[in-house]
Amino acid sequence: PFKWYEKMRKESPIRWDSEREAWDVFDYATSKMVLENKDLFSSDRSQKKADSEKTPLERSLIGIDPPKHTSMRALVNRAFTPKVMKHWKPRIARIATMLLDKIDPKSEVDIVEQLSYPLPVIVISEILGVPIEDQEKFKEWSDWVVAGPKDNKPETISALMEQQERVNKELFHYFKEMIALKRETPGEDIISVLLQAEEQGVTLTEDELIGFCILLLIAGNETTTNLISNAFYCFTEFPEAYERIKENPLATLPLTIEEVLRYRSPVQAMGRVVKEDMDLHGHSLKAGDFIVPWIGSANRDEQQFPNSQQFIIDRKPNLHLAFGKGIHFCLGAPLARLEAEVILEEWIKRFPSFKRAASFTLEPIESAFVYGLKEFKVTIL
Ligand code: HEM
Repeated sequence: PFKWYEKMRKESPIRWDSEREAWDVFDYATSKMVLENKDLFSSDRSQKKADSEKTPLERSLIGIDPPKHTSMRALVNRAFTPKVMKHWKPRIARIATMLLDKIDPKSEVDIVEQLSYPLPVIVISEILGVPIEDQEKFKEWSDWVVAGPKDNKPETISALMEQQERVNKELFHYFKEMIALKRETPGEDIISVLLQAEEQGVTLTEDELIGFCILLLIAGNETTTNLISNAFYCFTEFPEAYERIKENPLATLPLTIEEVLRYRSPVQAMGRVVKEDMDLHGHSLKAGDFIVPWIGSANRDEQQFPNSQQFIIDRKPNLHLAFGKGIHFCLGAPLARLEAEVILEEWIKRFPSFKRAASFTLEPIESAFVYGLKEFKVTIL
């Protein structure tokens, strides 16, 4: 999409797309402004629906405005503090080691299937405190929520919706039971942390807590998978950069990961709703209009990033918008960064030399809004 973005930034950085009935924004400055200006742009994308018709996800953190957002975010923030992340690091390292142990260096390795896909699902199920014996089932649900059915594709849309409805219900009940369980015997997981907050007088209703758990599945899994796959994609595409990373992974990985986030952003676009009639650089926006800042394009804007089309592993400053900006800034950013760092570091330690496999094909995920790969086969040298 990057050629197209470049053209749009030059020709019409803000435009109305009559087919999708939405405004598109392609430049960095305006995208950033739309993402962070909560007074002019709402995150309540389902505002036309009655409250009772909204799904738990639509009522969750990512789809609400202040003042509700402010109190809910303050509450869930405590489950994602740097201190909590420090606590998670050895566990993530253990999961990464377990995945790497399964790799047979003599055969082709699909990075997506063997590393970048399982890691975030296992991590989030541990963070939520899903018992090991439920993890398979949980993985199935979480795939379903994010990507729809893999096998046994239903024949009709209504059959699909029925199945979707069923999975949503199953998930809802699953978390409901889980909450009851954690109330009785709290653990170190996020659900227990949030239930303890309740005891201290800050409350999240049960529905809100369930919606939050489902949001974590959706917001955290595919995005992190794509970040890790995209890092491997960049390593094989820019061998000189990879040579430098290999020499000193510990020192180079943090900034490299930021550059992967900028250069190949897992989330390419994020929607908002215009709150009041306004003029935006000569365009008349009306209250209720949908507007989409294209993060993937903003992150390649030459006005903001010198040599924006180059992959520069020590780029600094690197104020990319891959995790958004403002009050909705990605809650899981520290976790996603940590997961990427741990798995890439462990991989480089064990398998420093690898190349794209003979059977390699570049198959991007078919969606304009996420950027990632369906598979990425490599051979270990
Ligand atoms: C919000 C991207 C990983 C949880 C966001 C937003 C973006 C984003 C762009 C802003 C949405 C908006 O402005 O409307 C990413 C990327 C990830 C990632 C690129 C991986 C590389 C995660 C993980 C979790 C997570 C691992 C949790 C386990 C959330 C939540 C929000 C959010 C809860 C909503 C925050 C709010 O509305 O206040 N993410 N995300 N994300 N993300 Fe992430």
